[in-house]
Amino acid sequence: MLGNFVYCNPTKLYFGTTALEGLREELPKYGKNVLLIYGGGSIKKNGIYDAVLKILKECGKNVYEDAGVMPNPTSEKVYDGIRRARESKADLLLAVGGGSVIDYAKAVSVSVHCKEDFWEKYYVGGAEPDCEIVPVGAVLTMVGTGSEMNGGSVITNHEQKLKIGHVFGENVFPKFSCLNPEFTFTLPEYQMVAGFYDIMCHILEQYLSDTDDNTSDYVMEGLMRSLIHSSLIALKDPKNYEARSNIMWTATWALNTFVAMGKTTDWEVHMLGHAVGAYTNATHGMTLSAVSMAYYHHILPYGLAKFARFAVNVWGVDAAGKTEKQVAEEGLSRMADWMRKLGLAMDLKTLGVTPDMIEGIADATFINQGGYKVLERKDVVSILKESL
Ligand code: NZQ
Ligand code: ZN
Repeated sequence: MLGNFVYCNPTKLYFGTTALEGLREELPKYGKNVLLIYGGGSIKKNGIYDAVLKILKECGKNVYEDAGVMPNPTSEKVYDGIRRARESKADLLLAVGGGSVIDYAKAVSVSVHCKEDFWEKYYVGGAEPDCEIVPVGAVLTMVGTGSEMNGGSVITNHEQKLKIGHVFGENVFPKFSCLNPEFTFTLPEYQMVAGFYDIMCHILEQYLSDTDDNTSDYVMEGLMRSLIHSSLIALKDPKNYEARSNIMWTATWALNTFVAMGKTTDWEVHMLGHAVGAYTNATHGMTLSAVSMAYYHHILPYGLAKFARFAVNVWGVDAAGKTEKQVAEEGLSRMADWMRKLGLAMDLKTLGVTPDMIEGIADATFINQGGYKVLERKDVVSILKESL
């Protein structure tokens, strides 16, 4: 049975080859000062920077820049961004990049007018903003996180060895996002496939919870089937617009809060992945793939019926003459084959984790309550050791 919920997603999307034109419609709604936020320079190489700047100038904006947002953005960089946003008196934070750039822009947006320390207040303390929020707009260049249409913002504090995500309310969602699938064509394969797995994992975090019959689970099965199909096409032919546009749209729906309505959710793979990220700074999707198989095998006995349904409805396993456990395990084995085909990290060693880091990573892993088995610390350690 679906639980009670209130649903609102305020982000306006412009999707397709003309998506950037959406900027022209949106920019007049905001004041003159725009802080253009981007990463390490990919947008300068592929022409997206020039295209965005041209529109900003044509719309008469004063453009200030905040470049160099790194993958897995750090708390130190956020302090720098807050300073820049204050100095430029930014009326709009325009994030051009992937999840890291958009997450970072959200962190800055709630901190410009905040009198307290942003890290302690929002990320360690989990508080909601009670100050003015500078609006965020986004131009997406890397597909996976869903940050373009949600309130998630994940920041890493290297000193404290913590990577923490805050899921802000709808007032922090991007006001608008421009999604042109062609903008993702220049992604290196490693990032592309990491993003594909991030999408899969987001869906599974919400699918592998609850035992009742609800609409969201059917929607999620469709999203996963579409992703599996299109990912294999994109792997062979990265410029295949049909595949890349389907994946972009699937990623947005995987984490724009819609499929989580009325359900409990798990998110434990992300807790493990974020802790690994805090220790290694590895690519987000790869931290998830490296721990997933050990985690799913660990919880399979507690969610057997759902794992069997996943095997049949998503992986096309023929259940005839097999036990529920055999069906469920065959589903996971097909999933592992798909992951290997994509070239995902299947163990933690590949990401630079060494045995002496295991206890620290376990300490940095938050334990959630919504999965089929609520882990104890010893489960976390054994999953991490198995993933090595
Ligand atoms: O920095 P540049 O030079 O732009 O290069 C980036 C970066 O190195 C590159 N890239 C992006 N678009 C490109 C491109 N290269 C060539 N062509 C393009 N079109 O890709 C690299 C990775 O970018 P990044 O933004 O770090 O990747 P992603 O979108 O996966 O974001 C990862 C961050 O998002 C967080 C992760 O933990 C991580 O910190 N997440 C955010 C979530 C949310 N907001 O809801 C949920 C997720 O589960 C996740 O935790
Ligand atoms: Zn993720």
